[in-house]
Amino acid sequence: MTSRKAVVVILLCAIFTFTSASEITYDGSSLMIDGERKVILSGSIHYPRSTAQMWPSLIHKAKEGGLNAIETYVFWNAHEPSYRQYDFSGNLDLVRFIKTIQDQELYAILRIGPYVCAEWNYGGFPVWLHNMPNITLRTNNEVFKNEMQNFTTLIVNMMKDEKLFASQGGPIILAQIENEYGNIMWEYGEEGKAYVKWCAELAQSYSINIPWIMCQQDDAPEPMINTCNGFYCDQFTPNRNNSPKMWTENWSGWYKGWGDPSPHRPAEDLAFAVARFFQYGGSLTNYYMYHGGTNFGHTSGGPYITTSYDYDAPLDEYGNLNQPKWGHLKELHEVLISVEKTLLNGERIDTDYGNMMSASVYSYQGKSVCFLGNANTSDAFTVEFENTNYTVPAWSVTILPDCFTEAYNTAKVNSQTSIMVKKPNGADNAEEPSNLKWVWKNEDIEEIKNGIVTGSDLTTNTLLDQKAVTNDTSDYLWYMTSIVVDEKDSLVGKTVTLQVHTSGHILHAFFNSKHIGSKLAQNGHYDFVLEEDVPLNVGTNQLVLLSATVGLPNYGANFDKTPNGILGPVKLIDPGTNNTKDISSNQWIYKVGLQGQILEFYSPQKLNESEWSYEELPTNKMFVWYKTTFENPVGDDPVVVDLLGLGKGEAWVNGKSIGRYWPSYVSGKDGCASACYFNQSYKAENCKTGCGEPSMQWYHIPREFLNSDDNVLVLFEEVGGTPSLVNIGTITVGKVCANVFEGSTLKLSCQGGKVFSEIKFANFGETEGSCGSFRQGRCGSTNSLSVIEQACLGKESCSIPVTETVLGPTGCHSNIYRLAVEAVC
Ligand code: GAL
Repeated sequence: MTSRKAVVVILLCAIFTFTSASEITYDGSSLMIDGERKVILSGSIHYPRSTAQMWPSLIHKAKEGGLNAIETYVFWNAHEPSYRQYDFSGNLDLVRFIKTIQDQELYAILRIGPYVCAEWNYGGFPVWLHNMPNITLRTNNEVFKNEMQNFTTLIVNMMKDEKLFASQGGPIILAQIENEYGNIMWEYGEEGKAYVKWCAELAQSYSINIPWIMCQQDDAPEPMINTCNGFYCDQFTPNRNNSPKMWTENWSGWYKGWGDPSPHRPAEDLAFAVARFFQYGGSLTNYYMYHGGTNFGHTSGGPYITTSYDYDAPLDEYGNLNQPKWGHLKELHEVLISVEKTLLNGERIDTDYGNMMSASVYSYQGKSVCFLGNANTSDAFTVEFENTNYTVPAWSVTILPDCFTEAYNTAKVNSQTSIMVKKPNGADNAEEPSNLKWVWKNEDIEEIKNGIVTGSDLTTNTLLDQKAVTNDTSDYLWYMTSIVVDEKDSLVGKTVTLQVHTSGHILHAFFNSKHIGSKLAQNGHYDFVLEEDVPLNVGTNQLVLLSATVGLPNYGANFDKTPNGILGPVKLIDPGTNNTKDISSNQWIYKVGLQGQILEFYSPQKLNESEWSYEELPTNKMFVWYKTTFENPVGDDPVVVDLLGLGKGEAWVNGKSIGRYWPSYVSGKDGCASACYFNQSYKAENCKTGCGEPSMQWYHIPREFLNSDDNVLVLFEEVGGTPSLVNIGTITVGKVCANVFEGSTLKLSCQGGKVFSEIKFANFGETEGSCGSFRQGRCGSTNSLSVIEQACLGKESCSIPVTETVLGPTGCHSNIYRLAVEAVC
């Protein structure tokens, strides 16, 4: 009896596994899943840029936003930080991430790389790889190929073992090898071409029975599919007729560097790019990023990429809906999915009206869907189309799912705008104290300043690349040397100029135990020269240099070979005579990292309370560690810490690094447009906010890092600042606005439990100004406010049809009425 049961169970399992496996095929029109054509709307969420606790809600919000797939890269240096020592724990649990996607019945796209770019430290390569003998990265080099194959095979097998490929019943429908190699391969000559072939053969050898892609790779060998990355991909054509037109990176915004204001990409422009892509035969788009997240620890690349990787993505850094972007795209996704069959199976006929205006009609089995596209940057276009007039605003696409009714126009945003506020702890809850009590401790550099080194890491007669010495285990490397001079030396007794040529990114110099100067790379110039006057004594003089990196490069041909740290020359120059002493080939002693890092001052378990000082807090002092405790803020809004007042350094909560901080780095005053115009080809520099402000003031503390009671925040301050202004806060929706066209529906939501407490403004008719400054224009219905108050006050969300019947007569005499509302949550 028992054995019969077992057989039945095994049989059922076999049937289940068999029936749930999917066959992924494709042709020139689209991907097909079990023979059925699919529009794939995907979004990038990089698992290490959030926490495992956040994944289900991020993925759920992506699904709510109309996506049917999630894409991620795989981050080699995070998984193999030391040679053959792997980490797949916590937010590196790739299997759990893919299973979370599967749980919500979405598809997954796995871009293995393992070179990923991604503004991620060193493009995802472990630094030990660069330090291997006889290696050249990203080319036809045996040592590199062997390592790449080792890691790629590990990942593919991990997915196979968990049956995560679609061919096994899992969610992964596409896999990628390499990343945008085509952009830079000419630099690698014939060896580069051979490498591309090898990548394709490696991918094929895994027999995972799903298609492989190579993005930005015009010569992708069959059956690799080449795909497009960019702000617009409507003009892209794959390199073979039987490949579908797929857009692997649809840049939803842009990344930010230290010293930069915040880039934005308007929702209207992003929607325009997507609609146009589908107008011209596209079948898969992936928002890069859908959720950008946070570069915890030392994961940001660049160099100089900020800890926030918000990207102005549809979900903000903390996972909140970035409105109106999220909502405006959701509506577009719904329309695209509703016409999927006609769009992907249909014959397309394009009509060109001149002046950048076009129409595309897809027809299939008696049904048609029409796109009216206006790529003119300044003029609306009225087109008579199948006996009806349609006015298509400049730089927009109208979609008529039945070739008659306007269901969507990319320039007409009906979704709400949400203004997020950062609420300091204690703002409205007395149980959450806002005053933090600090203790502190010096990073002990007294001995090192005098050239006394215990446990040096290396001694050589040359200046070495920083990452070759540190393996990037720390941002910091000490370079120390003694300069012995006798009375006869022509430089003795003079004030000479110390000249240090460095390849970045920050340099602190000490001479005969005094701090003589610091300098940092600015405006993208990572090579710079520090020049300071020093008095040279008879006997031994100590030169101690601390070099700090702020993320390693991630992009460009041979980016991995970019030098870091002090490569010299280092010289002493008599400014009067120009007599020079080149000390580059002196004996140099190296020490990796800071004492506090090695002894883990940031870890609550490592230091006794008695080792911290309760004396008056030092301010504007270099190399100080600060510590405080704080209570877990009530509720479940995302938690942030305001670090205004600090200089530059790193922050830890309960021993976990929340990343580098640098609030003293203020962006330039100019370059932020007062209004962001969307009706032009997007460039990241067009649309910025926060000029003249710190690039980053608020730092994300994921709730997963917090204890239910007391929490420990430790700061390492490198350049000097004060923690007295620091406060812990939460991010929540402050107010929402909408300006909805007649005929649509007003949908307002406080997005997370709170309710509307006040309707500040409502007008159905003509309204001037924008969110926060709405005022009635020439006319408006007198009922507007009371109707909205009745429908929304005290509710978490509300929905009202925008019609005269509901809102009353506008008294206007124009054609287009809108309902503008500003509400407080
Ligand atoms: C692409 C690259 C991505 C990312 C993006 C910019 O070139 O493939 O990984 O770096 O640029 O955010």
